[in-house]
Amino acid sequence: MPATVVVGTQWGDEGKGKLTDLLARDMRLVVRYQGGHNAGHTIVVGGETFALQLIPSGVLYPETVPVIGNGVVVDPAVLVAECDALEARGIDTSRLVVSGNAHLIMPYHYEIDRATERSLGKNKLGTTKRGIGPAYADKAARIGLRVQDLLDEKIFRQKLDVALREKNLVLAKVFNRLALDGREIARVYLEQLAPRIAPMIGDTVGLVHEALDAGENVMLEGAQATYLDLDHGTYPYVTSSNPTAGGACTGSGIGPRDINRVVGIAKAYVTRVGAGPFPTEVEGELADTLVERGHEYGTNTGRRRRPGWLDLVMLRHAVRLNSISEIALTKLDVLSAFESVKLCVAYEYEGERLTSVPYHQSVLHRVRPVYEELPGWGDDLSGATETGDLPAAARDYVRMIAEYAKAPVTYVGVGPGREQYVRFAA
Ligand code: GDP
Ligand code: IMO
Ligand code: MG
Repeated sequence: MPATVVVGTQWGDEGKGKLTDLLARDMRLVVRYQGGHNAGHTIVVGGETFALQLIPSGVLYPETVPVIGNGVVVDPAVLVAECDALEARGIDTSRLVVSGNAHLIMPYHYEIDRATERSLGKNKLGTTKRGIGPAYADKAARIGLRVQDLLDEKIFRQKLDVALREKNLVLAKVFNRLALDGREIARVYLEQLAPRIAPMIGDTVGLVHEALDAGENVMLEGAQATYLDLDHGTYPYVTSSNPTAGGACTGSGIGPRDINRVVGIAKAYVTRVGAGPFPTEVEGELADTLVERGHEYGTNTGRRRRPGWLDLVMLRHAVRLNSISEIALTKLDVLSAFESVKLCVAYEYEGERLTSVPYHQSVLHRVRPVYEELPGWGDDLSGATETGDLPAAARDYVRMIAEYAKAPVTYVGVGPGREQYVRFAA
């Protein structure tokens, strides 16, 4: 069976964790293909909440093998802690397989992430301060340490020496920070963490291809989202990897023909954490209502998310960028609070109407959203399970999204719980 990709269509936190978990029931493998513990993917099962950072959202099913692909950046201490926390709650993590080619997040990556943000002052990106950007930068600069280096003490120490010489200079001369002690880093990584990580390391590319060859279902779980993509997002207000569906290939070791389904996750409104342009952002009471009803606070960092109306111009572009075959629309229940709801169908810029995302980002920073206002539905949706359970106004809202985005909406989220969704039929 070809693989399925789950990808965020906005700026993250669309509900990828919930949908991945939902679809993982029928999957043999669930592979994370990029990002690191900047992600926070929430799954709610039987009233229990699991907030996953590095471990793929398939971990809750005993038959599913969670895989951390080569495109991910791994802080081994976080991985060990996440496994321990899940085990303490009765979740078996022994099936987890981690790619030896995945890069390691090192202590200096945190230092540099924090110091860079501080030095940017009011121009800061608002990163998660988890060392993600600096770790990917080292990967591209070819001075990164990889998960497999934990298996070879000599190589680990050599690579650490080379990297640390540069990092300590940068920390001291550019950021006026104290140098880090390489021996202490090596002690923690080689003595404490390597013995825990070693049994998890495996041939993830081989595993994925064996599963595909055997006709089993494989799922590729994106973290972050289309507009946080290093190439296609609102640069520089992005993350340092490729969450878009193309990244699912490089980050897991398959080719485009191995994928036949791309599920784009879109929240029924939009949120963004950190800085950057956001044409449909709202403020005041409306923003407070969205944030409070939607519990829009970061899963990991606790930061309040910036809310806004759903932007169909961006969603349509995301459908193209990812070759999305279907859309899962989440959190429709949150909009039940409103008498009317808005959808952004175009932008206005210097008297002109734009119907696609402008290629020049300065324009995106200055556009004004053009809205269509639709009647709200008022009713509580949280118990809906079939399309017919949704009020007519809610169905119309969903249909308009599918029409503009040029992709069918197949799932509608009506609450955080695993069972709280409608299999939508237009
Ligand atoms: P992710 O990063 O894309 O996995 O999303 P997060 O887990 O960071 O944020 C999504 C939040 O919305 C989580 O708290 C989910 O439990 C919750 N959620 C997901 N789907 C729905 C839904 O349909 N309705 C409601 N009310 N909450 C949802
Ligand atoms: P999930 O997978 C929302 C944002 C940060 C910041 C920018 C760069 O839960 O959707 P980074 O630490 O990656 O260098 O920060 O990206 N960001 C996210 N926003 N959800 C996420 O993950 C995010 N991961 C990173 O807030 O603006
Ligand atoms: Mg999240």
